[in-house]
Amino acid sequence: MGRAQKMVTLDEITELCTRRGFFYQTGKIYGGLSGFYDYGPLGVDLMKNILDDWWWYFVERRDDIYGLSGSIITHPKVWEASGHVESFIDYIVVCQKCGTEYRADHLLEDLGVKVEQYTLEGIKTLLRSHNVRCPACGGELSEPRAFNLMFSTNLGPKKSPPFIVYLRPETAQLIFVNFKNVVFSMGATLPFGIAQYGKAFRNEISPRNFLFRLREFIQMEIEYFVNPKKLNDCPYFDEIKDIEINLLSAEDQEKGLEQARKIKVEDAVTSGLIGSEWHAYWIAESLRWLWRIGLSPQNLRVREHIKSELAHYAQQTFDVEYYFPYMGWKEIEGISNRTDFDLRRHQEHSGEPLHIVDDGEKVIPYVIEPSFGLERIILAVLTEAYTIEEKRTYLRLKPRIAPFKVAVFPLVKRDGLDTLARKIYNELRDRFRAYYDEDGSIGKRYAKADEIGVPFCVTVDGQTATDGTVTVRYRDTRQQVRVPREHLAELLHNGIEEKS
Ligand code: GAP
Repeated sequence: MGRAQKMVTLDEITELCTRRGFFYQTGKIYGGLSGFYDYGPLGVDLMKNILDDWWWYFVERRDDIYGLSGSIITHPKVWEASGHVESFIDYIVVCQKCGTEYRADHLLEDLGVKVEQYTLEGIKTLLRSHNVRCPACGGELSEPRAFNLMFSTNLGPKKSPPFIVYLRPETAQLIFVNFKNVVFSMGATLPFGIAQYGKAFRNEISPRNFLFRLREFIQMEIEYFVNPKKLNDCPYFDEIKDIEINLLSAEDQEKGLEQARKIKVEDAVTSGLIGSEWHAYWIAESLRWLWRIGLSPQNLRVREHIKSELAHYAQQTFDVEYYFPYMGWKEIEGISNRTDFDLRRHQEHSGEPLHIVDDGEKVIPYVIEPSFGLERIILAVLTEAYTIEEKRTYLRLKPRIAPFKVAVFPLVKRDGLDTLARKIYNELRDRFRAYYDEDGSIGKRYAKADEIGVPFCVTVDGQTATDGTVTVRYRDTRQQVRVPREHLAELLHNGIEEKS
């Protein structure tokens, strides 16, 4: 699968992002820090547009999801209860000769070895039986050891003993520990969800592939609480039951199959491939949003975790994977059935009751969790949008998420056209993210706008002064139309809010 045109490479995307101000490696003037990127001026607009659209789609337009924004530095007991202190680990090996550190399962996967048992013993056996050595220098590797991915820091000045706290490795736990607060203050009743986005931190052993594996990133998560007896009682199921998805089940993977099958959501539930209506609903709803921001259905598949991949809290998990032409299918979102694991654990560890009353009964709800990673989605969006044509390269971003919606140019810098163009720009920028550019040839200005994904360019020329019309150029088709100035705002509004 993938696209017919010339495939973009990760280097091309990285180069464009740095040159045009989407992302910069953090602390680059001091040699950089691996796994950390700063958002540049265009990146920050792209980030905001995607976050705003996510919030609108999953929170604002619904009446069953509440918002939250929890602390980044979190009480250590939260992570003891959640199981992260004990289980949030990867296995590390170190080259005895050159000292390079590797994530053991990645080394094995790079050699085409499937890691069926993600345990210390399982990893040890595979490393030995495949005689894995350091890919950099051929040196011998250390025995693997467990490495906890949480970043910790000291709270306050106390040194002995220090008060160790953690930077959250997922935003989800802040939702679980605030569950009862939201129920009390908002009068929430089942089924309902809590959504939040924000930074998460993981001390990844080997961050790589630009924005794909970072140590600091943004998650957008929803914990959706359902009575465990009503997992097949989703009132919105009819809206999504006929949607076709590309599904790769755990069973198919265990048979060695790698090709996803096309299946209707309803059939995936009735055949037992997806465990419940609510789980299926959140898979479909996630896909609908990913399509909305520009990822095409054929480049997305839903892959079930095989048993050995399941996180310690999950009963069933599906990854939404995107087809990156330079790395293959990779996870951009996880959608898990976390059962009542988290609320139950927090209830046990804190002594606070965390049930809710539903149909006159006390229940600890089950949780379906769609968990999106913003930077991976941005990488997918940029990959999908990066279009190479014979004479130009441009970013075919959906207007609703493009950093700039419109650029305004005078055809030439004289004859009062610059003053008139500035006036039009000033009128537009109150409503639309816009920029004004009068430097260089008009062709160069269009090329720059194309490269950063501006969907509409407005050019002011001699005719504007006489009849009040301007030229609107459409990025994707390069088609140019003349429109009266007073129709511009409506035309742009309709173009940005296109139905999809
Ligand atoms: N609360 C569930 C959870 O955190 P996860 O699969 O570990 O599940 C969810 O993470 C999403 O966060 C992933 O699908 C991915 O998009 C993003 N993510 C996870 N680790 C990441 C990393 N090191 N760099 C960038 N994004 C990451």
